[in-house]
Amino acid sequence: MNIMKKLIVAIDGPAGAGKSTVARIAAQRLCYAYIDTGAMYRAVTWKVMRCQVAVDDAEVVARTAGTIDLRLEYSCEGTKVYVDSTDVTEAIRTPEVSQLVSVIAQNGGVRAAMVDLQRKLAADGGVVMDGRDIGTHVVPAADVKIFLTASIEERANRRWLELTAKGFKVKLDELKAEIASRDKADCEREISPLVQADDAVVIDTTNLSIAQAVDKIIGLCEGIDGGL
Ligand code: DC
Repeated sequence: MNIMKKLIVAIDGPAGAGKSTVARIAAQRLCYAYIDTGAMYRAVTWKVMRCQVAVDDAEVVARTAGTIDLRLEYSCEGTKVYVDSTDVTEAIRTPEVSQLVSVIAQNGGVRAAMVDLQRKLAADGGVVMDGRDIGTHVVPAADVKIFLTASIEERANRRWLELTAKGFKVKLDELKAEIASRDKADCEREISPLVQADDAVVIDTTNLSIAQAVDKIIGLCEGIDGGL
């Protein structure tokens, strides 16, 4: 693809709307780096658990994030996540990490450290970055802003299929409750809550295939003056 300008594509939305899958494929098609900011908060959570830091000790949790050696390695298969040279790509997806991550993501020091890193990663453009506050806070000047969403039933169902395929035994109604509680925590937290940016384009994936959602995003990039 002939890329004139290296765009910054910000994709925000609630858990399970398909952000990671759609963002990863869009990044591949654009030959851009894919930056999964949720994975960054998960990596901090993994380290907090690993170091047996008390989750309610905000200062120590923030220090853990401030000193973490967090590395994202991009390839066609996706992004590998390393913490202090340990490959945590799979470990950060366990239900234990999922349950704790929204608490860790509410910590102001953790957010400051991650946002700083995210801005550095986006600085030169040519990135698709997904999360909750990318278009509103991390890179408000992003060239393309998407708010990707889907019904809670559909999001719970997708998470159930994903976890079941990995061998985890989970109940659909419990997943639905967990996603609802994460939505609440993400939307109601004081710092950088999940809100739709005024200038974001909403894509509801409840009845869309992954390919259709990706096509919409590529179409928006192509529409940017001086873009693709
Ligand atoms: O997208 P995910 O489920 O992997 O995100 C994990 C958690 O991190 C989720 O509780 C929301 C939080 N998060 C955040 O607060 N800000 C971001 N930019 C990305 C994720």
